[in-house]
Amino acid sequence: MPVISFANPKGGAGKTTSALLLAGELAARGASVSIVDADPERWISQWGALPGKPDNITIVSDVTEDSIVDVVEDASTNNQFVIIDLEGTASLMVANAIGMSDLVIIPTQGASMDAKGASKTIKLIRNQARLAKREIPHAVLLTRVSAAVASRSLKNVRDQLDAAGIDVMNSSIVERAAYRDMLDFGGLLSKLDPKQVSNVDKAVQNAMEFTAEVVAKLKAVQTPQGRAA
Ligand SMILES: Nc1ncnc2c1ncn2[C@@H]1O[C@H](COP(=O)(O)OP(=O)(O)OP(=O)(O)O)[C@@H](O)[C@H]1O
Ligand SMILES: [Mg+2]
Repeated sequence: MPVISFANPKGGAGKTTSALLLAGELAARGASVSIVDADPERWISQWGALPGKPDNITIVSDVTEDSIVDVVEDASTNNQFVIIDLEGTASLMVANAIGMSDLVIIPTQGASMDAKGASKTIKLIRNQARLAKREIPHAVLLTRVSAAVASRSLKNVRDQLDAAGIDVMNSSIVERAAYRDMLDFGGLLSKLDPKQVSNVDKAVQNAMEFTAEVVAKLKAVQTPQGRAA
């Protein structure tokens, strides 16, 4: 079943947050999801150890560059979705994960527009695609976007990426305390207490839009084996 990886060598770009939002939303719809925690910092594994992880999310930890191909293959046989949270460096593990992906999402901070990290990832994806002799669909996801300033500067970033022929997702991930709380306190976004954290409903709405766009992208992708993702 489809493998979606989150890659950007830039630390703090929002890889782990967006990976978890997608996993949580897919799981909330009833899908079985395996998250491959390929970051030695093990943020997702730590989240999974907190209360509130739904049973239909499984987390695979302690992945190495030697084991990742086997781990992802196995996870994709046994789950409806596999989500890989990658470390914030360019490594053989990242290259291997990208090589096995049906979709690579490149979270990029909207405000600072870390073009360097994103373009490094895109080069890596293109090289892996050449090696594998297949397209590896990928798109930039603008993250940590200010809710208040929907903004001209964001449009500017989108226009620049468009001009460079880079696919940018229509949905972006807004900067919200709810996302931090989800990582820190465990469980799904929708289970956060609206009395403790503001705008949970808007955060859930944002995660739903993002997930719907990912699912639509996967549906549009015909994998080389000829199966519809
Ligand atoms: N949309 C957001 N709203 C609020 N906080 C966010 C958002 N995205 C990320 N953060 C916070 O920023 C920090 C870094 O985000 P995250 O861990 O998702 O990035 P990363 O790309 O996985 O980083 P690393 O390269 O270190 O793995 C975390 O503390 C996270 O809670
Ligand atoms: Mg991370």
